[in-house]
This record gives sequence, C-alpha cells and structure tokens, in this order.
Amino acid sequence: MIHPEVTAVLNELTPILRQAQHVVILTGAGISAESGLPTFRDPMTGLWATYRPEELGTPQAFRQNPRLVWEWFAWRRELVAAAAPNPAHQALVALEHHVPHVTIVTQNVDGLHQRAGSTRVIELHGNLTRFKCFVDNQPITDWKASEDVPPRCPRCGGLVRPDVVWFGERLPEQALNDALTAAKKCDMFLSIGTSGTVEPAASLPYRALDSGAAVVVSNLDVPNRATPPLYYINGRAGVLLPELVQQTWPEA
Ligand code: OAD
Repeated sequence: MIHPEVTAVLNELTPILRQAQHVVILTGAGISAESGLPTFRDPMTGLWATYRPEELGTPQAFRQNPRLVWEWFAWRRELVAAAAPNPAHQALVALEHHVPHVTIVTQNVDGLHQRAGSTRVIELHGNLTRFKCFVDNQPITDWKASEDVPPRCPRCGGLVRPDVVWFGERLPEQALNDALTAAKKCDMFLSIGTSGTVEPAASLPYRALDSGAAVVVSNLDVPNRATPPLYYINGRAGVLLPELVQQTWPEA
C-alpha cells in the first residue's frame, strides 16, 4: 500500500516526467538494498556499521593490510554475483522507452544497472568487478594463478586492487565531467537511495536545481514534501520507481 502522502507527491511528478526530455538519475546503495546488498550507513546493517572505512576503504589500509582489504572486496564481489537487479533497476530501464535521454549516474560499484539493461550508466566510484594495478592504476583483466593474496600485476609485479574509488582518492575525471554536464543539461533529476553525504556526488542535485531542473530526492530518511522545483519522497525504490513509471505512462 502506498501512503497517501507519497501518492500526492507522485501525482505532482507524473506530468513533469511525461514532458521531460533528459532525465538524470543519481543512485546510491539504497537502490540495491532490495537486491540484498547492504548499504553503507544503515545503523544496524550498513557496511560502515560493521567495518571502519579507514580500515578497509583507503589506499593506506591496502598498503598496511592488503590481504584483509582484498578479502573484504572479494566477499562483496560474491554478494554482488549472487544478487540480481530488482524492480527499481528495471523501472529505470523502462524509463528509457519513454524519455529521449536517460542518464544514470551511480555511486554503486555493483554493476546492477548494466545487468538490468540500462544503456547509459556513469560510474562515479568505479566497479568492484574490475581491477587495476596499485602501482600505476593501469587496468588489469587477468593475472597468473598463484598463492598470492592479493594477486600480482602481470606487468610490474605490483599488487592488484579493485577498480573502485577509495576515501581520499580522486573520482575518474571523465565520469565526473560527464555527470556534471548531464546534471546541468537535464530537465528532471532524481536522487534515489543515497544519503547524499559523499562529495562530489552529493552536490549534483544542486547543480541540476541551479540549472532549472525539477529535482526529486527519495530514500528512507526524507519526509514527503512537494516544494517545486524540489520534491521529497520517502519509500523503497523498488516500490516507488515502478509506481512512478506506471502512473506516468499507464497505457504502456
Ligand atoms: P548510504 O548507506 O550512505 O545511504 C543509503 C541511502 O539509501 C539512505 O538514505 C537510505 O535511507 C536509503 N535506502 C535504504 N534502503 C532503501 C530502499 N529500499 N529504497 C530507497 N532508499 C533506500 O549509501 P550511499 O549514499 O550510496 O563510497 O553512500 C555514498 C558513498 O559512501 C558510497 O558510494 C561509498 C560510501 O562510502 C565509496 O565507497 C567511495
């Protein structure tokens, strides 16, 4: 059952979405929660409730204890491999059938948008199924089987690391530029399942607002409120996104 307050905000959004030419969706860990993947900041189940970022998600941590960090990411990779895209990811694929330009900007490293079938996905924080050399950041697709954990770069013998952005590291420049450009050009911007606490992703909705877009922020923390051009909806992405698409194009 959808709360009447949620329905009221959705009703305001459907005409805007129907007219939209370019929609940008910024996603965070919350969109993959219904696929069974933990978020970062949930006080009970979030990854940072169990692990300390500085112990596992920094270059210093990898230098000090590469095996621990490698194994933590290997565990997360297994969770992702066992997970499947959920109705929220699928609703964003459906959006591509109705809106001329759809750009997903994700902070997630799980690749679930691509596995669902979304075609334009900008990965701001990398992807944990890709690897690179800890010495020179060059991509690594394969390495010699050995006892080494982490494995060794086949070119220089340096450590292999996941191709994700750790605390204190710069975001991939092209991805960040593309995300900023999309945020400035879109006419509707949805922020889904992110706490909006990590920069520069957290600023993207403001860039869109400054450029005149309607901005929707949806997660489990916000109230339900419509103060055009800014809208807040509280609820699960796997329920709200399919509902928004269905309500906007009921004939489809
Ligand atoms: P957070 O864990 O900070 O926030 C998750 C958000 O998802 C919260 O606002 C929840 O209310 C919301 N949420 C939870 N379940 C949901 C559901 N079913 N439907 C909709 N919303 C739901 O995760 P992020 O914002 O993604 O960075 O965190 C940002 C970055 O911090 C991550 O990319 C990661 C982390 O450190 C790096 O690893 C570089």
